[in-house]
Amino acid sequence: MKHLFVQGQSKSAPTLLLLHGTGGNERDLLPLAEIIAPQASVLAVKGNILENGMPRFFRRLAEGVFDEEDLIFRTQELHDFVTESSAQYGFDRDQVVAIGYSNGANIAASLLYHHHHSLSGAILFHAMVPIEGVTLPDIKGIPVFLGAGKRDSMITPDQTKKLAEHLSEAGALVSEYWTEGGHQLSMEEVEKAKDWFTEHYS
Ligand code: MLT
Repeated sequence: MKHLFVQGQSKSAPTLLLLHGTGGNERDLLPLAEIIAPQASVLAVKGNILENGMPRFFRRLAEGVFDEEDLIFRTQELHDFVTESSAQYGFDRDQVVAIGYSNGANIAASLLYHHHHSLSGAILFHAMVPIEGVTLPDIKGIPVFLGAGKRDSMITPDQTKKLAEHLSEAGALVSEYWTEGGHQLSMEEVEKAKDWFTEHYS
């Protein structure tokens, strides 16, 4: 997968897996990593799918309606890519925290829905339920931060709440942060995510 790896100063911080939104690229979330955990190593990945020229992490049939077969395939592909990258770049595969926005948050959620050990934590900005009818693995104790907008018309509050429920039922430690805003990512939630990160990982 197209990506970039940046070695961080800290040996103890988890590696950040950065996953952009629809139409983005591997550089998009670098400023967020810089704010949230400036000492951490970063693996920033570009989605392998193109939708009308816009990179994504998996195909969709319509807005909010996912091609589930492709989602499952791409989730495995990303999981394997992180594993291969950990060997290539020498980071700890068991200490990987995803930071995703929108489509990138949805595939990060899908990693949690399908893999017991893919992520040791996740910051999901504006995420929804990636797939229905899946029994989640035991993800007991994995911290997950959900940032969401009360007026997000793409990712409705119901969807984020259902995601929080699924993850909590599987044992994740879910923290929700709601802004008054819409789908756009706000500095307010990034600052909260930073506090959350500091609380859990330092
Ligand atoms: C998705 O397709 O993952 C969601 O609809 C959000 C997005 O458009 O990126």
